[in-house]
Amino acid sequence: MDWGMKNRMSRIIQPDTGRAVMLALDHGYFLGPTHKLEVPKETIDPLLPYADTIMLTRGVLRNCVDPGSGANVVLRVSGGTSIVGPHLENEGITTSFEEAIKLNVAGVGISVFVGTEYERQTLLGLSELVNQGEKYGIPVLGITAVGKELEKRDDRYLALSCRICAELGAHIVKTYYCENFEKVTTSCPVPIVIAGGPKLETELDVFNMTYDAIEQGAVGVDMGRNIWQHEYPVAMIKAIRGIVHENLKPKEANELYNEIKQGKAA
Ligand code: R5P
Repeated sequence: MDWGMKNRMSRIIQPDTGRAVMLALDHGYFLGPTHKLEVPKETIDPLLPYADTIMLTRGVLRNCVDPGSGANVVLRVSGGTSIVGPHLENEGITTSFEEAIKLNVAGVGISVFVGTEYERQTLLGLSELVNQGEKYGIPVLGITAVGKELEKRDDRYLALSCRICAELGAHIVKTYYCENFEKVTTSCPVPIVIAGGPKLETELDVFNMTYDAIEQGAVGVDMGRNIWQHEYPVAMIKAIRGIVHENLKPKEANELYNEIKQGKAA
């Protein structure tokens, strides 16, 4: 691996722990002003110090993130469809590699929609990004998207999608946690991070999912709504960091969360 690629990978997966806390803020690219991300800067600023990387689009990056903040960025470079359009899966590449380089990104991310009418174009899109990424030393995050079909999130489907991303050259894969998750991680030869999905009922549910994913081979999270849609987003991200980087158990993370929430811990 070339120096530039290694350097960027180490901005995403922290060399001291081998783990990653990515903060997903890209939802607006197909959902518009999602709940609690209506004014992105207000959501992003308090969380920035606790995210190893932020994942978002060029528009929100340029307009809502201070370039002097020191943020490491994984740029969402796919899109072109919306939640109200006919085919959410019909995505293309939205952002050129030159622009990603200009924005000094740590990596770029693209969704693939395996098993849909659009699998070929999205998988070839991933492949094209990898061609460019290898040329310029920029890691590519393959995202195994399910669109509106959340029920697709089982080990068989996710293992298939993750493995295809890795085969096509993705340097990291983002997927969902599922039952029998180890099947997904063991059959994917590149690091896996998990999305959080829609907001879960309790904090402990989020901590259990994060812990179980790490235990079963994920290197971390690329999580959004379960952090910033929560009433105490800073307490959430700090507790999640505790699991990812300090091997806290879910119960310990929950205690940390409660202490931060009650102002008993920083
Ligand atoms: C994925 O395609 C989305 O754009 C989000 O980045 C992803 O779902 C992670 O966010 P959340 O934890 O809210 O699911």
